[in-house]
Amino acid sequence: MFERAAEVLRRNDMGGWTRAAPHLYPHQWSWDSAFIAVGLARLDTRRAISELTTLLDGQWTTGKIPHIVFNPEAPPGSYLLGPEHWASASLSRSALGTPRPTSALCQPAVHAIAALHIYEVSCGTADEEAARSFLLQAYPRLLAWHRYLATWRDPEGSGLVTIYHPWESGTDNSPRWDAALANVKVGELSPYARPDLGFVDEPSERPSSEEYDRFLWLVEGLKRARYDEATIYGSHPFLVKDVLFSAILVAANGALGEIARIIEAPDGDREAIGCWIERGRRGLDACYNEVLGLCLDHDLRSGEPLQVRTIAGFAPLISGDGGPHHEGLLRLFYSQAFVGHDRLRWPLPPSTSPEEARFHPRAYWRGPVWPVMGWLFWRSLRLAGEEERAAELRRHSLEQLSAGGFAEYFEPFTGEPLGSDDQSWTAAVALDCIATEA
Ligand code: SER
Repeated sequence: MFERAAEVLRRNDMGGWTRAAPHLYPHQWSWDSAFIAVGLARLDTRRAISELTTLLDGQWTTGKIPHIVFNPEAPPGSYLLGPEHWASASLSRSALGTPRPTSALCQPAVHAIAALHIYEVSCGTADEEAARSFLLQAYPRLLAWHRYLATWRDPEGSGLVTIYHPWESGTDNSPRWDAALANVKVGELSPYARPDLGFVDEPSERPSSEEYDRFLWLVEGLKRARYDEATIYGSHPFLVKDVLFSAILVAANGALGEIARIIEAPDGDREAIGCWIERGRRGLDACYNEVLGLCLDHDLRSGEPLQVRTIAGFAPLISGDGGPHHEGLLRLFYSQAFVGHDRLRWPLPPSTSPEEARFHPRAYWRGPVWPVMGWLFWRSLRLAGEEERAAELRRHSLEQLSAGGFAEYFEPFTGEPLGSDDQSWTAAVALDCIATEA
């Protein structure tokens, strides 16, 4: 299985960076690349380093790491919004000077976790020195990225990251965004085709056309604002505090703090990182909903929490410290509402609770099981000292992949592989799980 997973990454290797999937995602995606680096660390330290370096080369001067760094050789029309649509460098000076064109959104900040992982895996090997110099080079860029998120994406100082588009959450069509998207009034859009639908077995595996209209309309609004953060904050119709992104950032700040220690960064940096962690934890705590027993995203436009039971509700577990709600969150995680649901093929977390009216077992983030989410929970459980639970999660996740291959996501009740085949990040997390002692 290790060899088969490595083969997927080799086939998707574009020379220094990896396309997220062979056809559906022909470019370099931000959080995909971070997970891919986690897997590559088990194969080849230098190649793992170049995965993150090529992504960081796309960083904007504001510190933002764009959600897509484009592949200039991708077949024309193979992805809906190509570089010419975003026009990032002509609309924003902050995007000038990147070697490859970029999109203008961002995605969850898994990168510092991946960078530290590369170093840790290399320790005691001939590559340790190369990994250490990589940390030295990557550190200022990662720090700038986290500072961007702590400032432009959190002018309120809430500890929570504001997203401008469901794509920024990485969980595009999750019911988390339904209520906020319902308030977006879509104007005149030019007709468009959906290449993504040609790469899956059934259209129901992808977001709906109503969702796509809104996704495209939101991009139009961001372009009109010339991707200027202050303008967006003033007028954009979709501004949401994303608890999963925020929790990943807390965990990534934990990793960045460790990198700062290893490379002996200035005390001031380490204090700033410590403050971001504290603030992030407090922010997540404030989003806890006693009735649902979960952490909820918050719609800044309506001023309302977004009430739905999805995997994102367990954000405090991902942040590395469930805080006062740790035990309660774990109980709910293993209950009938999630991992303990009696119809599940494997006890792995579905992206949306099967008890939710808006649950859909085949529709992208509205129900299917995503192996990368399993990896994040596995990591968090181990860090929290929950060794047995972590080992179970790892075992079931590997069973699922062994039966269904390295698919993008899985039908939770049957284990049927869905979305793209040979998804790079799925193969990557499999490599890391296999290589880690059970
Ligand atoms: N996940 C989005 C897509 O499917 C973009 O980031 O295209």
